Amino acid sequence: MNELAFFKNPTQITYGLGAINQLRPIIEQQDFKSALIITDRGIIQTGLVEQIISQLDNIQYAVFGETKPNPTVTNCNEAVKTLSEIKADVVVAMGGGSSIDVAKAVCLLATNEGAIQDYEGIDTCSNDLLPLIAIPTTAGTASEVTTFAVITDEERQNKFTIGGIRLAPKWALVDPLVTQTLPPHITAATGLDALVHAIESYTSKLANPISKALAREAIRRISANLRQAVYNGDNIVARDNMLMGSLLAGLAFNNTRLGNCHALSHPVSAIYDVPHGVANSILIPHIMEFNMLAVPELFSDIAVDMGENLTGLTLMGRAQAAVNAVKTLSKDINIPSDFSHYHVDESQLDRMTVDALASGNIAVNPRKTSYQDVVELYKKTMGGVKSEII
Ligand SMILES: NC(=O)c1ccc[n+]([C@@H]2O[C@H](COP(=O)([O-])OP(=O)(O)OC[C@H]3O[C@@H](n4cnc5c(N)ncnc54)[C@H](O)[C@@H]3O)[C@@H](O)[C@H]2O)c1
Ligand SMILES: [Fe+2]
Repeated sequence: MNELAFFKNPTQITYGLGAINQLRPIIEQQDFKSALIITDRGIIQTGLVEQIISQLDNIQYAVFGETKPNPTVTNCNEAVKTLSEIKADVVVAMGGGSSIDVAKAVCLLATNEGAIQDYEGIDTCSNDLLPLIAIPTTAGTASEVTTFAVITDEERQNKFTIGGIRLAPKWALVDPLVTQTLPPHITAATGLDALVHAIESYTSKLANPISKALAREAIRRISANLRQAVYNGDNIVARDNMLMGSLLAGLAFNNTRLGNCHALSHPVSAIYDVPHGVANSILIPHIMEFNMLAVPELFSDIAVDMGENLTGLTLMGRAQAAVNAVKTLSKDINIPSDFSHYHVDESQLDRMTVDALASGNIAVNPRKTSYQDVVELYKKTMGGVKSEII
């Protein structure tokens, strides 16, 4: 193999119990004078934001707490307004991927002109961003280290991605203690999102030995600890493994992009407001079954990492064991098996398919994917439309 392997991680990571307390030293060392905290109402209710505010006692600060799950262009514009009111020279994001992604958009708009929609795509901005300190509170997206932000354009009902090395936070304070307040259903959906990141990165056409090692360790940690984190949220060992698993998966997919699962999940979330982790969790078994025909040996590795007993199985049997392991895990943690409760039906099928095919993640998926393939994959996830959201 003479191929080159590329790997980037522009973020300075502090990981561990109490990592959040490293905020004050960073603020002091960098001599920041004014900070904007970006978060959401759910996080504010937990009292976690107080742990940030108590470290900002010597500088001016403001809090933007209106981030929505599947964050919007409006969220970004409102937060920029607060930023300019206090002339912040640093942004602190505390939350899941939604708060961190809004913060990335705000840091971009602070130093680059125009609207956030203008920056869709990779390497689209020319100026360095305002510095960002990211504190993740979900073990899911790993946005604290990634070079992507995903924003929903409400008008176009479209989820778009902004990417590029400039998007990466300067610092990530990654502390398992702040994930202990996550309720079981959010732990489940965000945890499976992290597992999907690891699976898609491991099987990506751009995977290399460095990203693969990270992705496999992420799969091992997440599959061995997600049930415990959901059903015994105080179990700090499980929380620690989940957060480290999510981080490792993020470092991996930052370098490989993802695959069909994320390409197909974004249109569903944009149109039907399905939480990101739930959308991926419903799609992933079908995507794995589609992809395993192209790269069964990689799915066999995933089955090993998920602790499956593969004795006596053929290669395809081992690949199928990985799919079954993901299905069992989803069922155990109460993830719905289809989109029926979100009223996803065939009325938007063409539009969702066209949007999915435009994603950069389709290009790195291990199996070539056609329009008809995407239609069939979506149809498998629709189920019969039911009247109540559970
Ligand atoms: N930037 C990236 O690289 C990247 C990667 C994958 C996904 N995403 C995006 O991230 C978004 C999803 O982020 P997410 O899944 O982390 O969820 P989220 O940020 O949308 O948060 C979901 C809910 O969990 C609550 N919550 C979060 N942490 C909590 C805690 N510790 N205690 C109690 N409640 C808590 C929030 O209040 C919110 O209601 C989507 O828009 C998705 O597209 C971004
Ligand atoms: Fe994701």
